[in-house]
Amino acid sequence: MTSPMLDRQGAPAAPHLALAADRVSEQFGAGAPVLENVSLTVEHGEFVAIVGPSGCGKTTLLRIIQGLEAATSGAVTTRSRTGEAPRMSYVFQRASLLPWYTVRDNVAFGVTLRAGNGIYGSKRERDNAVADLLALTGLTKYADFYPDQISGGMQQRVNVARALAVRPDVLLLDEPLSALDALTRERLQIDVARILEQVGTTGILVTHDIREAVFLSDRIAVMAAHPGRTRAIVDVDFPRPRTPEFQHSTELAQLERGIWEMLH
Ligand SMILES: Nc1ncnc2c1ncn2[C@@H]1O[C@H](COP(=O)(O)OP(=O)(O)O)[C@@H](O)[C@H]1O
Ligand SMILES: [Mg+2]
Repeated sequence: MTSPMLDRQGAPAAPHLALAADRVSEQFGAGAPVLENVSLTVEHGEFVAIVGPSGCGKTTLLRIIQGLEAATSGAVTTRSRTGEAPRMSYVFQRASLLPWYTVRDNVAFGVTLRAGNGIYGSKRERDNAVADLLALTGLTKYADFYPDQISGGMQQRVNVARALAVRPDVLLLDEPLSALDALTRERLQIDVARILEQVGTTGILVTHDIREAVFLSDRIAVMAAHPGRTRAIVDVDFPRPRTPEFQHSTELAQLERGIWEMLH
């Protein structure tokens, strides 16, 4: 795939792009190169998965996109639908919830911090949005529970709801379901598909689960390691929302198999 032309301000030239990583390379100190010329674009409303072996630089790439890490060379440019600098949210593999806050307060936490940023016009509007997110993520019944009173799967729902509460232009998910058991994971994949659909989120999902990548995304960047680079971009040409039937379809299995072969 080709990287988009960047204009002089460094904003993606094409307004339909939420994000463009252009030949991003990363090397820490004198260590081996971690990423080499990784290019990736994400359109508004598009959901792109990144799969690749452990250590190929997936987390590093997300951190560069988020601005937590500086690339050695190359550029990442982002834009919201309105053309302003976009808001990003990051969901980590482990739920990083505040143990002394209830589920509801954990979801509201990110928004409370940014209350001055005009995400919500009033406390009431914010509280309504939090209530909507609790409903959307199946957490309404658990709103007054504390994190240690709910399961790992429920904790990850809180994490996703919290990330969505800031109304991100781009949602970055770093193996959000990896720590969960297989059944919980499958169930959550279906819910995540529905949530993405309802919120219309633009996002990037890092996962080492090829099946999960196929199930949830519009396109998949398949990475290779040492140094981390993009091996292929695979289109997942199936309409969203994805159904539980799609999760076990032969079409999905075929795509999964093709990507598996690339990785092995
Ligand atoms: N801050 C850092 N300093 C030095 N090396 C790092 C740093 N962050 C990541 N790495 C190295 O970069 C490589 C890729 O790591 P990572 O991005 O976490 O891979 P992945 O998420 O694909 O498993 C690993 O070898 C890791 O040790
Ligand atoms: Mg990682």
